[in-house]
Amino acid sequence: MDASGISDPLLEQARRAFPALWPPHAKEGSVSFDNAATTHKPVKVIEALQAHYLSHNANVHRAGYALAENATKEFEGTRRRVASFLGAANSSEIVFTRGTTESINLVAEAWGSTHIRPGDEILLTPMEHHSNLVPWQRLAARAQARLRFLPLDPRTGGVETREVAGAISPKVRLFAMTHISNVTGACNPIDEWIGICRRHGVVSLVDAAQSAAHRPLDAARLGCDFLACSAHKMYGPTGVGVLYGRSEILHAMPPWQSGGQMVESVDWEQSTYARPPHRFEAGTPPIAEVAGLRAAIEFLGELGWARIQTHESALVQQALDLLGSLPFVTVLPAPPGRAGIVSFLAKDTHPEDLAAFLNTAGFAVRAGRHCAEPFLRALGADSALRISFALYNTPAEVTRFVTELRRIHRELTT
Ligand SMILES: Cc1ncc(COP(=O)(O)O)c(C=O)c1O
Repeated sequence: MDASGISDPLLEQARRAFPALWPPHAKEGSVSFDNAATTHKPVKVIEALQAHYLSHNANVHRAGYALAENATKEFEGTRRRVASFLGAANSSEIVFTRGTTESINLVAEAWGSTHIRPGDEILLTPMEHHSNLVPWQRLAARAQARLRFLPLDPRTGGVETREVAGAISPKVRLFAMTHISNVTGACNPIDEWIGICRRHGVVSLVDAAQSAAHRPLDAARLGCDFLACSAHKMYGPTGVGVLYGRSEILHAMPPWQSGGQMVESVDWEQSTYARPPHRFEAGTPPIAEVAGLRAAIEFLGELGWARIQTHESALVQQALDLLGSLPFVTVLPAPPGRAGIVSFLAKDTHPEDLAAFLNTAGFAVRAGRHCAEPFLRALGADSALRISFALYNTPAEVTRFVTELRRIHRELTT
């Protein structure tokens, strides 16, 4: 074990693979604790982007020359790789989008416009990110449907499964649920909730933005209808994400955006549409970014979930123990088994001020509403300071963070 406190040599090596964490790109000793916003990228991902533009650049699904054929082969190969990463039954269930937000909007527009009728209900947890809330608000307004929110248990900061069962009625058409809260790290029992949806014929959508890099996902086993995630939160590039859609449901959906590549044949007045997934990928897709996503998935695969989860659970437990020892800190609650995200308040200080002082001490942390305003209000907070871990964070960083927090708080309040 070295000064980082990491005993696993493979993790220590993985940490070294992120150039943005080390000089000359970062100051010696700076710490990245804002990983729920976006993660840094390992060399492998950066090299995949560079290799694409240097040696493989061509548009996909169009031309027959060697470079273009190879680009298409690689692109579709990555779709198969993503399908196995997310547990899809086949690769046509994987739609490349710009990210979680776009994936959810795609469902709200394409599925929502044909399946949600006046009087229908859309069920949501109280802990949704705005990306899994605002698209449903807009759909409900358009379709004269209604949003229903599950109650938050203020003691645990979670949602009881019996509340999910109790909320289901013939009016409920969709349950859109976050897997892991980006505010508290609460990890919802989505397997149970999706089971309830399936028993009652309710369509389920999982927002996996905060889980795809931290927990194994198996869409077919879970039995969800839709699942959305973003590559940039999984050590991959910005500008690409995934919508998993169960085959039958995607086949029955009309297109969302329209243009090139999403059509089978086009006449002056009308067109016929391609089959999924291409029906939902109008225009030129993010080709280089998809290559980067493949590299990110390979990177995660080389480490393995057991190693990643053990490490991140230990970090979050250490953070909870140390923060719990500070009498001026109130940690926003989450049920046991939370992921590597902790938000908290510190007495007599504003989270924004603390974040600014922590920045000068070398810590990148986020203060604010975390794109989950109603959830923060439900937790009785206006704003909170959040730390969120990635596989490259270390026990030594957590210890130093809490020491600095104590020092800064003392200086701000005396
Ligand atoms: C839970 C959750 N859902 C959705 C999103 C939106 O992701 P993106 O901005 O990559 O579309 C985020 C981003 O922070 C998130 O944390």
